[in-house]
Amino acid sequence: MQKIILTGDRPTGRLHIGHYVGSLKRRVELQNSGEFDKIYIMIADAQALTDNADHPEKVRQNIMQVALDYLAAGLDPEKVNIFIQSQVPELTELSFYYMNLVTVSRLQRNPTVKNEIIMRNFETSIPVGFFTYPISQASDITAFKATTVPVGEDQLPMIEQAREIVRKFNQTYAEVLVEPEAVIPDNEICKRLPGIDGGAKMSKSLGNCIYLADSAEELRQKVMNMYTDPNHIRVTDPGNIEGNVVFIYLDAFCKPEHFAKYLPEYESLDALKEHYQRGGLGDVKIKKFLYAIMDEELAPIRERRQEWEKRIPEVIEILKKGSIVAEKAAAETLSEVKKAMKIDYFADEEWVRDPLNAV
Ligand code: TRP
Repeated sequence: MQKIILTGDRPTGRLHIGHYVGSLKRRVELQNSGEFDKIYIMIADAQALTDNADHPEKVRQNIMQVALDYLAAGLDPEKVNIFIQSQVPELTELSFYYMNLVTVSRLQRNPTVKNEIIMRNFETSIPVGFFTYPISQASDITAFKATTVPVGEDQLPMIEQAREIVRKFNQTYAEVLVEPEAVIPDNEICKRLPGIDGGAKMSKSLGNCIYLADSAEELRQKVMNMYTDPNHIRVTDPGNIEGNVVFIYLDAFCKPEHFAKYLPEYESLDALKEHYQRGGLGDVKIKKFLYAIMDEELAPIRERRQEWEKRIPEVIEILKKGSIVAEKAAAETLSEVKKAMKIDYFADEEWVRDPLNAV
């Protein structure tokens, strides 16, 4: 069986380092592993509209931002197929058929949807499209017969629901669809990177993000303003590393070799933590260290983005071609689906010969 990746993001803003450590970085590694026969990366504009119906301009403006972030992060258009969800209408058609295989109560139990309904104050007025987006996400995945879906941890319930739809479809009609597996980060910290204010999660609306497109100066300022331990006032005070954003980010970004390079007086992150907890280590020093290692990782991304920004027409071409390739693959699956569901009338010789008696 072929190994196929499908994943994507809603284009509602630029991508931030939460996206990067939570999934984007892994996608680039998987791309470079050479283990996959096909890789599809989707800009999920139709899904973005499920909770932004009134703001199509926001979704439209962020298509290119997300495409640039993908290319900047190291996704290589020679190796992956980047496309725009709405340009593949087969996905919508699949969703309509899958809807028959899912109950309202099952959708209501999806923890991610539950959570999002609360976050968006949708309790009394949930758009039907939003409520059913896990079904549309199952279409995105199965249309490409994806085996592997690298995503952030919050997407696990979506993959689980997609797997259920696959099993139900295959049982009811025929073995057409492939059950996907999610790939999430191994590092606990990377699953849920907090915002720079220590807030639960990085989110654009909270204004606590570090974006992949941030300049070195923006990055420096954000690191210098990070939430640490409010009771660590004097350098000599013992400090707390729990909930301390600088240490959380160090857990996500720091590698052993960074010490020799930027902070040779410590041999490891444990030694640094130990000194902070004991007292005598100031916030400015750990922030400068964090800035150095984050900039090392983000500078090449920033530079690649600047290069691609000069080549926008080429990026448009990448998306356009990618969407054509994606549509072709999705159309193939859709025709298998329709055959299995017995709605392929005109292509079925038996039906055409005797439509009153054909089964
Ligand atoms: N739900 C994902 C997000 O919020 C985007 C998405 C849409 C997706 N369809 C997908 C992710 C299919 C993985 C597979 O970012």
